[in-house]
Amino acid sequence: MTQLKVADIAKNIPEYDGKTVSLKGWVYNKRSSGKIKFLMFRDGTGLIQTVIVKGECEDATFDLFEKMGQESSVIVTGKVRAEARAKLGFEITVQKVEAVQIAENYPVSHKDHGVEFLMENRHLWIRSQKQWAALRIRSEIFFTIQDFFRQRGFTRFDPPILTPTSCEGTSTLFSTPYFDEKAYLSQSGQLYGEAGAFALGNIYTFGPTFRAEKSKTRKHLTEFWMVEPEMTYATLPDVMDLGEAFVKHIVKHCLDNCQAELVILERNQDELKKILSGPFPRISYDESLKILEKRGLSIPWGEDFGAPHETALGEEFGMPVFIHHFPSKIKSFYFKNADDPNGEGVDHDGKYALGADLIAPFGYGEIIGGGQREDKVEILERRIKEHNLKVEDYKWYLDLRRYGSVPHGGFGLGAERTVAWITGVEHVRETIPFPRMMNTLKP
Ligand code: 4AD
Ligand code: MG
Repeated sequence: MTQLKVADIAKNIPEYDGKTVSLKGWVYNKRSSGKIKFLMFRDGTGLIQTVIVKGECEDATFDLFEKMGQESSVIVTGKVRAEARAKLGFEITVQKVEAVQIAENYPVSHKDHGVEFLMENRHLWIRSQKQWAALRIRSEIFFTIQDFFRQRGFTRFDPPILTPTSCEGTSTLFSTPYFDEKAYLSQSGQLYGEAGAFALGNIYTFGPTFRAEKSKTRKHLTEFWMVEPEMTYATLPDVMDLGEAFVKHIVKHCLDNCQAELVILERNQDELKKILSGPFPRISYDESLKILEKRGLSIPWGEDFGAPHETALGEEFGMPVFIHHFPSKIKSFYFKNADDPNGEGVDHDGKYALGADLIAPFGYGEIIGGGQREDKVEILERRIKEHNLKVEDYKWYLDLRRYGSVPHGGFGLGAERTVAWITGVEHVRETIPFPRMMNTLKP
């Protein structure tokens, strides 16, 4: 038999109004006001107020109330009462409470705690309302990511996590013994995704990726989830078109399906609605340097952006913005090059890489990185050598350019940065159940 949940009642209050129900869950909070006691009850699907009045409930329940600490597990039986002022639209007048286990001295109380303490207690912290809301939105985003690609006929393609080589530079690889060899945790599924696209047409990969980043910022995890579409017969503008449609799809899904959660998180929803209102600006790297200069943040041509530059570019537009045609020397080995800051791909080394990053507004930084791939075998082979990578490790990857090479491209969207931006939480550590960061491996 399925257990009735708070969310089931919230979805259909007229059907339950006046009926007696039993709900299984936990004590979130409690308070007394004279002869009336209020027990905030949560069951994982929602949080409601239950009202305990002497005379209307069993006497034992009234006494039990005092003993039940925060997070005691309880079964509450009572009458549903529609209540427009309640967050979920109803309350429960209690007849009986049964304690499954009485909890005492729950560490994560409702007062403010320091981040270090909360991180040590991450296994309990996730029961708090804001954490709950962020993880629910994460779950919705993960569902709708798959919907988006399925609707467009992309096939899901799962690359390995244990890999023999790097994709995004050797400085951020995690290695692990692999019998008599060394293996690396995947930094990106892209290279395998390219093989997949040549076999199956448009594909997407979706899984955990790893970077040994020695960065302690609000945007960096060492283990994060990435979704990486790869399209054949595609060029850089196709990649940006897909990225823009994808991000809008995710934002719209959250606005349509995560109202309760966005309210708990106090997210400014007008900012999110604005995202749907127009095209994302597309600015060349060269153009972006002029914008940065105007804002007093000049950088010499050829340097990558830091956090302040990304934040400024996000502020300039109040919209996600694509920066494309980066200097080729600061990009990975696999990008097709161009000669001009807005030019198309050329079959030689060019000053610019046909890449595009999508910068989210409000300091959330780069959420998408991608572009068009080098499709000529000789050029790619030379680049691999120039990047001090071993050609024999990439022999299979070069085969994709030997046998039926076509223009192709794709991108990677970082799931946690996207969740952070949409939920408005400050730091990516609150967007994944158990974050892994430079100094965080437990719990
Ligand atoms: O820009 P990146 O490094 O691109 C790639 O990995 C390409 N191979 C993707 C592709 O073209 N298929 O990473 C892509 C995205 C970034 O834009 C960012 O959102 C996220 O992955 N990301 C991180 N998220 C959290 N913590 C980190 N340390 C991240 N590094 C990258
Ligand atoms: Mg990047």
